[in-house]
Amino acid sequence: MQTRHFLTLLDLSPAELKALIERAIELKALNKAGTIYEPFRYRVLAMVFEKSSTRTRMSFEVGMAQLGGHAVFLSPRDTQLGRGETIEDSARVLSRMSDIIMIRTFEHEKIERFAEYSNVPVINALTDLYHPCQLLADMQTYYEHRGSIQGRTVTWIGDGNNMCHSYINAARQYDFRLNIACPDGYLPDAAILQAAGDHAVLTDSAMAAAEGADLVVTDVWASMGQEQEQARREQAFADYQVNASVMQAAADDALFMHCLPAHRGEEVTAEVIDGAQSVVWDEAENRLHAQKALLELLLG
Ligand code: CP
Ligand code: NVA
Repeated sequence: MQTRHFLTLLDLSPAELKALIERAIELKALNKAGTIYEPFRYRVLAMVFEKSSTRTRMSFEVGMAQLGGHAVFLSPRDTQLGRGETIEDSARVLSRMSDIIMIRTFEHEKIERFAEYSNVPVINALTDLYHPCQLLADMQTYYEHRGSIQGRTVTWIGDGNNMCHSYINAARQYDFRLNIACPDGYLPDAAILQAAGDHAVLTDSAMAAAEGADLVVTDVWASMGQEQEQARREQAFADYQVNASVMQAAADDALFMHCLPAHRGEEVTAEVIDGAQSVVWDEAENRLHAQKALLELLLG
């Protein structure tokens, strides 16, 4: 049987993605009830982090512990991967000693190459191009607060980055409409956008994108690896902040999400992220539950 990987949201079918959210909600309830559920005793998750992380590391490590397994944290600072051992060799070695592997890295092509040489499932825990695990948590959070997202309108304001690309794929897979507002020069990848057809459309301004939206989402202006561009980006994105006026243009019961970490006063005001429409803490917690459901699906 072919090994299944989760490199983008397109690796699972819409039916699997919906079932995964329902399972995440069940696992969350079991967890809240204090029920011990350890299907993964003696199973090991290898976690390769080439970029920083708080939520992703914590949620995968805690998730694996709760499921009765173990997680091993590997960083380039103290592995041979950081000293030039090839992706192909690292993938072959790590997959002989673990049951599943999670990677956070830069170029998306690197995780594709890793998956090709791994004989256990590989999970994308963020690349420069995508962040699919975050979308599982976001979709669970929307479902818990408002029910099905099918047919709803979601607004993306800010950078056409890895999170934006995963929102575009989510619009296809979960069947919602995504209005995107990004400054010139920071638009999402044209091919990813085009593949989504009517599900994802570019708009002229943050206000236009937010019009009547059920969910408003943003992310940092400078992602990991773009720290040198911070000042230039602050200028380019000045009109792309999620603030009270933007939320006013959205539907009355619109939710606000942000994958975190956030920069109050840049991509979002404190008033919005700390306000009544924000569900960012549920969203962060749901990384744990949604990824436990993902581990179950991939480990079988
Ligand atoms: N949202 C997210 O992936 O957070 P971390 O970078 O802290 O893992
Ligand atoms: N776009 C951000 C997301 C962080 C979780 C980054 O890549 O740094």
